[in-house]
Amino acid sequence: MNELADVVEAGLQMLQDRRRTLGQPTDITQGDRSRIARQLELAHEPWEQARQALVSQPDLVAALDDLWPRVIPYLIKGNEVSPVHHIAHVVSFMARIGLIEVSPIQLKQGVLAALFHDIGIGDCALPKISEASIQRAGPVERERLRRDGIASRLEHMKLGAAIASKQLLACQQQHPEFLTSEDVDVIVDIVGSHDFSKIPLMEDHVDRRWLLSPDQADWLKQCHWEADALWMLTPAGILVDLERENEENTPENRRAKFLFNLGLHRQIISLYASAYSPAEMNQFGFHDGLLYRSRTGYGLAVALEQLNATNP
Ligand SMILES: [Fe+2]
Ligand SMILES: [Fe+2]
Repeated sequence: MNELADVVEAGLQMLQDRRRTLGQPTDITQGDRSRIARQLELAHEPWEQARQALVSQPDLVAALDDLWPRVIPYLIKGNEVSPVHHIAHVVSFMARIGLIEVSPIQLKQGVLAALFHDIGIGDCALPKISEASIQRAGPVERERLRRDGIASRLEHMKLGAAIASKQLLACQQQHPEFLTSEDVDVIVDIVGSHDFSKIPLMEDHVDRRWLLSPDQADWLKQCHWEADALWMLTPAGILVDLERENEENTPENRRAKFLFNLGLHRQIISLYASAYSPAEMNQFGFHDGLLYRSRTGYGLAVALEQLNATNP
């Protein structure tokens, strides 16, 4: 048995534990195995892109290579909620944004936060509810979905922060010169709050406590948010959305899903505009009314838009 096979088996064990906890049949089917193999295959390209982008940061690449097999079992546990390759894409986007937009220390913190950010999903008892399903539901159903959606978002962040903290402290013990206590605090804070910005999309009012501030203190969180959001614009992310919603994989549906997801990236900023003054909105500097404030994140979004327009 090779090393990856051991990692996958550990993940399948955890997936069985999850199903047992949820009162579901625990059998691992051939369908489970092939879905997970496919997700791992789809993770390969963005993972390599991230490693190549970070060639100037060999210690960070070494840490990623060391931590990835420790993270994969958790991702397999949560693969039915969020696929394994989502994380590889977010790590890759965060690496590219961080290289340009933040200091080398923040780059390390942001990339490791991207690696761990959804690690709690497999431990969630509450089902993940998308903004799309909330918006499409009737008024009574919408209220229930809203409440459950917010609760499950909060749950995956809280559980994820606890798992990330444990893994990072173990890593810090092995490499104290690479990972400081401040690094661990910053990373766990991002993991524990990374989806706060999505909560106003589910609520019927805007509460500033979920929103980032326009000052420098939240800049790394902003870059991480952009990296996470860019996934929804990638061909791989669009395919996951279509499958989740049982929609056919056609060029028309891919185009429509892309535009819907881009619309969410615009809608959240209209919510910011209802909570902040025009002067503060100016200070944020959102590009084109979308959630992107960094030039690099916005450039990646534009490139994905062009890709979808020419080759939906
Ligand atoms: Fe998340
Ligand atoms: Fe995510």
